[in-house]
Amino acid sequence: MDTHAPRRIILDTDPGIDDALAILLALASPELSLEAITVTGGNCSLAQGVDNALRVLALAHATHVPVLAGLETPLIRPPLTAPETHGDTGLGYARLEPSPQVAGSRHAVDLLIEQIMAAPGEMTLVAVAPLTNVALAIRREPRIVKAVREVIIMGGALLHQGNTTPVAEFNTYVDPHAAHIVYHSGMPITLAPLDVTYQCVLTQRDVSRLLALNSPIAQFIADATRFYMEFHDDYQGIQGCVINDPLALALTFAPELVTTRPLYVTVDLSSELGMGQTIGDFYNAWQHSPNLRVALQVRARAFIDLFVTRMEALIRSMNAAIS
Ligand code: RIB
Ligand code: CA
Repeated sequence: MDTHAPRRIILDTDPGIDDALAILLALASPELSLEAITVTGGNCSLAQGVDNALRVLALAHATHVPVLAGLETPLIRPPLTAPETHGDTGLGYARLEPSPQVAGSRHAVDLLIEQIMAAPGEMTLVAVAPLTNVALAIRREPRIVKAVREVIIMGGALLHQGNTTPVAEFNTYVDPHAAHIVYHSGMPITLAPLDVTYQCVLTQRDVSRLLALNSPIAQFIADATRFYMEFHDDYQGIQGCVINDPLALALTFAPELVTTRPLYVTVDLSSELGMGQTIGDFYNAWQHSPNLRVALQVRARAFIDLFVTRMEALIRSMNAAIS
């Protein structure tokens, strides 16, 4: 593998405001080659999420990136969306033009398998949604477990409060059975839970820095995050918005932003009360070998600065291209 070539990634999403920001960060990062976006139901419906991904790519003049629809509903649990967090469209107050691009005809699960098996050791999967697509890809083709280069997952809450129930984070709560399959699959997983993402707060001051550049992308970020900030203030008293998914994406090219440790982590499926809780065995009480690496500390301000700086660079490059 050419270590100087861009890192090949597939981004599994439920776009979603922070998913959209992760897509923009991938496009703004020369270290990465965003080779496909796969979509599942989550923050909004599958169809809405696919349309949102297409519109965000068109906004960034990146309609060459394939978008593929996966599973609409979780494996077993009933569907759950988050309009209070992401708005009825999934992108807050933002209103984007329809894209000329149409979604690919292949199923997302098939694309995940095809891409990973076609390039053993080369593809990195960044999963920032309920893990339904990833779980089914593992069940359909178990060899992807060894063939994938790395899997970076935004999900879970270990020593941090849940954001959907008091103990469960949204992506793991929506499809806890899929999370259980993926966490115990043997894939080389790095987990970015709420423990680190909740330290990464994008503020109005950060957004104002982008608005000063007067561009459709800046306006999109402002309109999408305005809704998201209102949610964080109303529900959790946070002044700003937690950008979970861009942090997970950033770990593909800036792993030094976090401190990770190996840990045995499982997902509670046993009761309605604890459903979707991610349980880390920090004292090795169960004597299981670690099944993933988990990020527990983050250089939050350095990450936010990186995100804003890269958005500025993306905006400037697009303004230059159209001037
Ligand atoms: O809990 C936060 C996660 O759930 C993020 O990925 C957000 O987009 C939602 O999918
Ligand atoms: Ca997401």
